[in-house]
Amino acid sequence: MLKLAIIGLSCTTLLILILFQMSNNPTLCEPSENGNLTVNDDTIISEHLQVEAILHYATSRVIPQQTMDEIKISFNILKSLTPCNLLVFGLGHDSFMWSSINPRGTTLFLEEDPKWSRAILKDLSFIRSNTVRYRTTMYEAEKLIEHYNKEPDCWATKSVLRGNSKCKLALSMLSNEVYDKEWDIIMIDGPKGYFDQAPGRMSAIYSAAVMARNRKGPGVTHVVMHDVDRDVEKVYAQLFLCRKNLVDGVGKLWHFEIPPALDVNTDFC
Ligand SMILES: C[S@@+](CC[C@H](N)C(=O)[O-])C[C@H]1O[C@@H](n2cnc3c(N)ncnc32)[C@H](O)[C@@H]1O
Repeated sequence: MLKLAIIGLSCTTLLILILFQMSNNPTLCEPSENGNLTVNDDTIISEHLQVEAILHYATSRVIPQQTMDEIKISFNILKSLTPCNLLVFGLGHDSFMWSSINPRGTTLFLEEDPKWSRAILKDLSFIRSNTVRYRTTMYEAEKLIEHYNKEPDCWATKSVLRGNSKCKLALSMLSNEVYDKEWDIIMIDGPKGYFDQAPGRMSAIYSAAVMARNRKGPGVTHVVMHDVDRDVEKVYAQLFLCRKNLVDGVGKLWHFEIPPALDVNTDFC
């Protein structure tokens, strides 16, 4: 109840701020050119999306699973980088929020469960999501570490995801967009990882590490990971995202800053 009241209050404040900003923004009154999107149109669309998001959350009875303090970590990174490329493992009640904070960037979700995708995207068709088929199950989490140690195609020296069918931890059949974009922020809050037959987050964590190491552009890749109270998340994060890259954490969320691998012949950590 208190949580709802806090969220309601924050939303109202944000709504007032945005409306205040819109009322002081003369660019909103300028006409756009013959059907082409202008910077002003872009601004209007972004602000429209954010107002829609405020209305959505102010009137919704379901709230995201992450706590306010956990959300704030990703919110602050996103606020400082937007417009940027944000890749999120797992659709949820927070998806609209992340998309609306990055209105001029690219926000793409990877979701394993088509039924859950339909439920979340029902009224939010502008959210971009790909369905992912995972090749792993939670049951195999321990064995997959042995597989990683033995399979050269998994090693940091290989560092390839697309078409890497030999390494079971590599998400090898994603859309080209996922491989071709450099993701500034990767959020790992999916797939499901709380029962034996669930896919678990092993390959999401491994693949996020490979993407981050392969970054060619300036800066680091921010990886935020939820549910680090669970063994698999903890062990895999330490194995591939590395303690030395852990820069922040609160509750069940860890924030890593992964630099590009200068020398592909080095290990993950
Ligand atoms: C761990 S939840 C977290 C979602 C989001 N980040 C949040 O805070 O609300 C994400 C995963 O749970 C799965 N899931 C399935 N049914 C669900 C439900 N009813 N509620 C939440 N997650 C569900 C989805 O497959 C999804 O990838």
